[in-house]
Amino acid sequence: MKLFNSYRSDTVVLLMILIVKSQLRLSHADKIESSYTTHPTGLLSPTPVPTPMVPMNAELDQVPDSPLVLDYHMGPLMTGLDDVLKLYVIYYGSFSTKQKSTLQLFFNSLRQGVKPTQVSSFPTVFKWWQLTREYRDLYGDGVARQVVLAGERNIPSAGNLTQLDIQQIVKDSTVEFGKSARVMYLVLTDDDVTVERFCMNVCGTHFYTYPSDETDSQMLPYAWVGNPTKQCPSLCSWPYAPGGLQKIGLISPNGDAGIDGMIITIATLLANVVTNPFGSGYYQPDGLEAASVCQGIYGTGAFPGSPGKLLVDNSSGASFNVFGEKNAKFLLPWIWQPSTLKCAGQE
Ligand SMILES: *[C@@H]1O[C@H](CO)[C@@H](O)[C@H](O)[C@H]1NC(C)=O
Ligand SMILES: *[C@@H]1O[C@H](CO)[C@@H](O)[C@H](O)[C@H]1NC(C)=O
Repeated sequence: MKLFNSYRSDTVVLLMILIVKSQLRLSHADKIESSYTTHPTGLLSPTPVPTPMVPMNAELDQVPDSPLVLDYHMGPLMTGLDDVLKLYVIYYGSFSTKQKSTLQLFFNSLRQGVKPTQVSSFPTVFKWWQLTREYRDLYGDGVARQVVLAGERNIPSAGNLTQLDIQQIVKDSTVEFGKSARVMYLVLTDDDVTVERFCMNVCGTHFYTYPSDETDSQMLPYAWVGNPTKQCPSLCSWPYAPGGLQKIGLISPNGDAGIDGMIITIATLLANVVTNPFGSGYYQPDGLEAASVCQGIYGTGAFPGSPGKLLVDNSSGASFNVFGEKNAKFLLPWIWQPSTLKCAGQE
């Protein structure tokens, strides 16, 4: 009773407005989520959290092109240190040299100054990252300008994992990587490892540790992505696996639909984590975040089941939408922009 008394009436009114707004927004998000093409990722606590029931407004589903809105919840974003976000990667299980070098090419393409030797006007991974620059925190600070691969470690597979196991792997890895709430930890699992919730609507998840002795009182933001090759290619390697309007998958630029699919999910989670590291940043009432709200959109003219207009490598026939280090090619998701309330890529 005391607790309720302490609420000021304007807070209650504000809450009511937020609830009404949430309902309006959900209907549009629902429309997007129900599309076939997915790379669903999200903030997922290692212990089950009850999903709140929110009534839907069916009429609003008919409204075409209504603006997307991600509310900001007054919490911190990932500004990094000196505008640099350090990324620590943990490979769980077996990844071939070729698989790792493809992943490393992507990570190293997030640095500033990496320029493909192709035409300078071509879209790049670094320019893609700049699509997160519009996001600002309560004090006007934005997301780190570049991401730098700061450390890697390999852990042999010790069996299948729960979401809580993933968190423990991150905690164990801080012995080597250090503990900081201003860096990001990423766990990658190989195609034989099953992970709790993997392929059941998620290709990857992110969360954070609570402050504890084990974490030196830090909240450590982390993400996990699985290799979907054997378990759910059409969910997590699309459009490099059949799905939507595609009877066969597109040719993947790095010759491995599983790894190219992982890179889509990793990119999605990187954008989601930096804009919502502790569950108090930018997200929709149903949990969709900066890049997952744009799921299935990779080029202009995308619609459910079709990824949109992509670049095609004339010699290999591979489809992609950005260049990285050493002219490597990748497919990265569009990112929601606070100024236009729309998803955007690099036109
Ligand atoms: C992991 O899960 C799969 C599928 O349920 C099972 O076939 C496999 O034996 C499990 N691996 C281990 C090491 O328990
Ligand atoms: C593919 O070839 C066409 C025509 O020859 C050219 O205009 C285009 O830039 C090439 N695309 C790439 C990605 O190299």
